[in-house]
Amino acid sequence: MLRLSKEYSPEELARIIDICMKALRSKDAYTFAHSERVGKFAEQIATAMDLDDEDLSVCRVLGRLHDIGKLFVPSSILKKPASLSEQEWEVMRKHSEDNVRILSCMSFVEKHMEVVESLHERFDGTGYPNHLEGCQIPVLARILAVADSYDAMTSDRPYRKAQSLEYVYGELLDGRGKQFCPEVVDKALNLLERQMKKPYVVVTAQIKKLVENAVPTPLPSLAFVKRAA
Ligand SMILES: [Fe+2]
Repeated sequence: MLRLSKEYSPEELARIIDICMKALRSKDAYTFAHSERVGKFAEQIATAMDLDDEDLSVCRVLGRLHDIGKLFVPSSILKKPASLSEQEWEVMRKHSEDNVRILSCMSFVEKHMEVVESLHERFDGTGYPNHLEGCQIPVLARILAVADSYDAMTSDRPYRKAQSLEYVYGELLDGRGKQFCPEVVDKALNLLERQMKKPYVVVTAQIKKLVENAVPTPLPSLAFVKRAA
C-alpha cells in the first residue's frame, strides 16, 4: 500500500498521480509509456535489493513522475524525429528543473525531493546539478537512473531502433562504477539475465575492456564472468 504522505489517503494519492500521468500521455505517448516502465523496473530492482515497502512505493511513484517536467518541453523538441542539436538538448535538460518545480508542490513527494534532485547525478561525480558521487547520491536516485537508462535504450525511437538486450547489458556493465552504482547495476543485470533466459555467452567489448583496464570496482559476479568467458 502506498504510504508516502500523512495528508493523502492512498486513493487520493493514486488519483493525483493518475492526473499527472494523463497530462503526460496527452503531451507525449512515448514519455508516458516510458515513465510507466521506469516505475516498474525501478520497483523490481528495489525489490531485488531488499528495500522496504515504502522505498518500493517511492521507486514506483517517482519512476512514473520522473519526466513530468517534460510537460514544459516544446513538442517540436520532445517529439523531434531526429537527433537533437546542442541547443535543443539544453532546452530538454531544463526538464529536470521543472521536475523539481512540479514535484516540490506535491507534499507527498516533499521528503523525497533529494531523490528527485539527484536523478541526473552520476556515480563517478560527473553528473548534475551538484556533482554528487557514490553514496552521496540517494540509493533510490541511483536505482531510478539505471531503470531510466535501461528503458531509454530498449525503446524504439523515431530516429533509432530499440537496442538488443545484449547491447543494453554491455552498456550497463560498461557504466558500472562510472555512470551507475555497481550494486544497482548488478541487480539490474541479474534481472536482465532472467529476461534473456540463457547464460550470456557473448563476451562484449565492454566486458573485455573492464577486465583489461582492471577498474577498481569489483566485477558483478565471478560466476557470470566465468560463464561469459
Ligand atoms: Fe526518463
